[in-house]
Amino acid sequence: MVGVDIAGPWRDRLADHLRERLGGELVAAFVIDAPAGGLAACAIGVVHQGLPGPDHVGVFGQVQTVVTEQPFRRRGYGRAVTCALVEWLTGQGCTLLNLATSDAGRELYVSLGFTSNPCSMRLIARPYHRA
Ligand SMILES: CC(C)(COP(=O)(O)OP(=O)(O)OC[C@H]1O[C@@H](n2cnc3c(N)ncnc32)[C@H](O)[C@@H]1OP(=O)(O)O)[C@@H](O)C(=O)NCCC(=O)NCCS
Repeated sequence: MVGVDIAGPWRDRLADHLRERLGGELVAAFVIDAPAGGLAACAIGVVHQGLPGPDHVGVFGQVQTVVTEQPFRRRGYGRAVTCALVEWLTGQGCTLLNLATSDAGRELYVSLGFTSNPCSMRLIARPYHRA
């Protein structure tokens, strides 16, 4: 979502989605509260069941929405919530974790062992309408 216009009704759809699924076996959020209310940092992850292969059981973890609010950056919050999420996804049986990084996030992810995947490709199969 970094560098993208984030306004729009998708936020309500996301809130509904999280209300239904957060705390279950497939979606988790790790957060640090801001002292004055709201969140200082968060990391959300989703477990996806894919196909087993020779070197992978087929359970994928998607790391998403890793954000520390500006005033709280460089205090270790991003690392703390991301580490907790990686541990949770691994505990859910994920043997491969995927994420899309930003320039700001790259050092953090590399320090946790993530590597770039030159084989990765994607197709935006259907234009996503925000309305
Ligand atoms: C990326 C982000 C989550 C880091 O959050 P943070 O709370 O500041 O991170 P931490 O304090 O835990 O730092 C973790 C590591 O990230 C790296 N890092 C963080 N900010 C950095 C910066 N501005 N420049 C270079 N490296 C940086 C460092 O390696 C740091 O480890 P260190 O402090 O031991 O050197 C935060 O900058 C952010 O929300 N950015 C906008 C959203 C985003 O890009 N999210 C990631 C992609 S989805």
